[in-house]
Amino acid sequence: MNSSEPLILGIETSCDETGIGIVRGRELLSNALASSVDLHARFGGVVPEIASRAHLEAILPTIDLACDQAGVSLRDIDAIAVTAGPGLVGALIVGVASAKALALGLGKPMYGVNHLAAHVMVDELEHGPLPEPVIGLLVSGGHSSLIKVSGGDFESLGQTLDDAAGEAFDKVARLLGLPFPGGPMIDEAAQSGDRHAIDFPRALRTDPVHAFNFSFSGLKTAVARWVKEQQRLGNTISVPNVAASVQEAIADILTSKAIAAAVNQNAPHLVIAGGVAANSRLRTLAAERCAEAGIELRVPSPGLCTDNGAMVAALGSHLVRIGGAPSPVDFPATSTLPVSEVFF
Ligand code: KG4
Ligand code: ZN
Repeated sequence: MNSSEPLILGIETSCDETGIGIVRGRELLSNALASSVDLHARFGGVVPEIASRAHLEAILPTIDLACDQAGVSLRDIDAIAVTAGPGLVGALIVGVASAKALALGLGKPMYGVNHLAAHVMVDELEHGPLPEPVIGLLVSGGHSSLIKVSGGDFESLGQTLDDAAGEAFDKVARLLGLPFPGGPMIDEAAQSGDRHAIDFPRALRTDPVHAFNFSFSGLKTAVARWVKEQQRLGNTISVPNVAASVQEAIADILTSKAIAAAVNQNAPHLVIAGGVAANSRLRTLAAERCAEAGIELRVPSPGLCTDNGAMVAALGSHLVRIGGAPSPVDFPATSTLPVSEVFF
């Protein structure tokens, strides 16, 4: 460990995971997580008020756990980074208020940072400095976008026009009677399915106006129609085949547009980030297609793809490294923060 590098504590509370990570430079020291996912399961989606209350209960014990695992005390921390948006506003407020209290109490600088940029920057903890320019395929429960990272700036190239990729996984899983969150369930069911069994639509595949945009709401409708038709015909529905075919449609459209963006922007590096980047078929297909196209692919380990505190600490560490000015004490929790606003 290079002890001359600053020690950064990252706080993530934008959705249903209370994540606290500690990094020194680009070295991950701890990544403690308390999830309220089980409390939301019976509602089929995250209930904001339940998530906020769970963050309140979990935040102090999770900070203690992260410090214990890293073998540091709060007094050793050089700067605090916290997700300021986008996300559920009540959930964000818990992290932002805690970060402000810690920063003021410890007399340390703090950075209110962008959750989406943090999803991308976490890759530096495993694979070293991000090359520039790099294309980011950011796919989570709330977002699906293609971004270009260059000179420390995050520029949006395109995004979903309706549902996010993770949302599509979650909604299709619900249709198939699989529990929330559906992405990992579809991934698991698809292992024993035939991905060529059903040819589900790939929206906006050849639309030049929407070359870097996505649309997933029609996919959910197509699956619902297909299931209904099979039921009408009295056919047995193979959940593994539907799961594998839907997963193939999503992975196909995401990878083909990401590679097109890399070629178009002359950026031979692609990083896939966000919860959906944990998907096994997306990872395999991206690796195959990037190898064919001569593009370097970087994907964090599955545990760093879903929401966590280390990603926030990684972005905070980057901001300290480049000499970014700390955020003012009155920066707000902002539910709709665009990816171009990396920090306050
Ligand atoms: O980034 P994330 O943890 O939270 C948000 O910021 O939204 O992403 C959560 C999303 C959920 O929709 C979940 O179903 C999806 O990521 N997800 C997956 C997998 N693991 C998580 N989707 C497909 N395959 C997976 N293995
Ligand atoms: Zn996320």
